[in-house]
Amino acid sequence: MPFETGIINLLYNGKNCGKIIHRDFTFGSSGDDMKTKYIKWTPEHGFDTAQIEEAGRVVRDGGLVAFPTETVYGLGGDGLRADAARKIYAAKGRPSDNPLILHIAEEKQLDGIVHSIPEAARRLAAAFWPGPLTMVFRKSDCVPYETTGGLDTVAVRMPEHEGALAFLRSAGVPVAAPSANTSGRPSPTRAEHVQEDLDGKIDMIIDGGEVGIGLESTIVDLTEQVPVILRPGAITKRMISDVIGEVIMDPALMSVSPGETPKAPGMKYRHYAPKAKMTVFRGEPASVADRINKEVQAYCQGGVYREDEIGILASEETAAYYSAGTVVTAGSRKKGTVGRQIYSTLRRFDELHVKLILSESFYGLEQEEAIMNRLLKAAGQHVTDV
Ligand code: TXA
Ligand code: MG
Repeated sequence: MPFETGIINLLYNGKNCGKIIHRDFTFGSSGDDMKTKYIKWTPEHGFDTAQIEEAGRVVRDGGLVAFPTETVYGLGGDGLRADAARKIYAAKGRPSDNPLILHIAEEKQLDGIVHSIPEAARRLAAAFWPGPLTMVFRKSDCVPYETTGGLDTVAVRMPEHEGALAFLRSAGVPVAAPSANTSGRPSPTRAEHVQEDLDGKIDMIIDGGEVGIGLESTIVDLTEQVPVILRPGAITKRMISDVIGEVIMDPALMSVSPGETPKAPGMKYRHYAPKAKMTVFRGEPASVADRINKEVQAYCQGGVYREDEIGILASEETAAYYSAGTVVTAGSRKKGTVGRQIYSTLRRFDELHVKLILSESFYGLEQEEAIMNRLLKAAGQHVTDV
């Protein structure tokens, strides 16, 4: 009975659980084979109407749709359905104690999914939503523990990508979406990356081209007395404190000591990782390049690796410093494109089958906190100070 199903979908325990009420509520069957369907979104033309309606229907029917956001591609399912959350964990091979972020298209959807909205959250939402900021709240009863990895808190974000917003409106429910990569691989910044990891495992992939930011959203926990940044991203600590005053960075984040456990469960895993072993060299770019050149020479002379088996992660400005090794440039320090290209660069090293990656560090850039956090995680905190 489609109509009754619609009512149940809208009202959960007598409460509107953050669902957008559609005038033209439609239902369809989910594709039960796992042939992944591909649809396109472009800034110029948006979506084909029938296709975006189908994407929304797939989510409401409990299926999975990967979609572009301004940060990285997400793997979306109905965030209020335990079965959809379980499918997300299965498709990614992700540990189920690692909670998912709920994505919404309108601020009023928050009311259904969180227990209460602190004043600081209102202010941050006014300043940075839609945008690359995720906030952690106490959850309402509508949100299943499967979505929150067993926690009483829930992370929520309103992306600013037009295609993402259209998709979320079409779904009409808060959409749980981790990054759309196989657990442990670098996050996807292009639909091709999603295809590499998840083709045949999910119902649909929305191809929206290359994303703009390339690093996941900043996460700030507002359930603590003093708000805590659990993951650095494009919205910096400074930008947040300008709006709400005191905020601290989770001390475990930038630490290289294995003893400290980050508060965001996902930050404790060694993900974002390429297949090769990796070391990050910290110091002035010229001294770092000098040191990396010496390392390459020593490995080759010692017969440990061939020259082409050693990857060097450099920038446009520094690539010419290197005389040997497989140099891949992750954008320009000056133009600020390093953040956007870090993950695709790590994937590129996988394609080149290098056995070792020696990486520059990227201090002094606007995205320094977020870039260095991801690089150090990719390297399993393996650092050499020059
Ligand atoms: O930019 C982004 O946030 C992307 C796009 C798709 O929106 N999503 C993303 O999701 O990066 P994911 O699942 O790859 O990372 C979510 C992070 C994990 O580290 C997880 O542990 C943390 O958020 N997290 C989620 N819910 C949490 C909660 N209630 N408390 C603390 N940390 C939480
Ligand atoms: Mg992720």
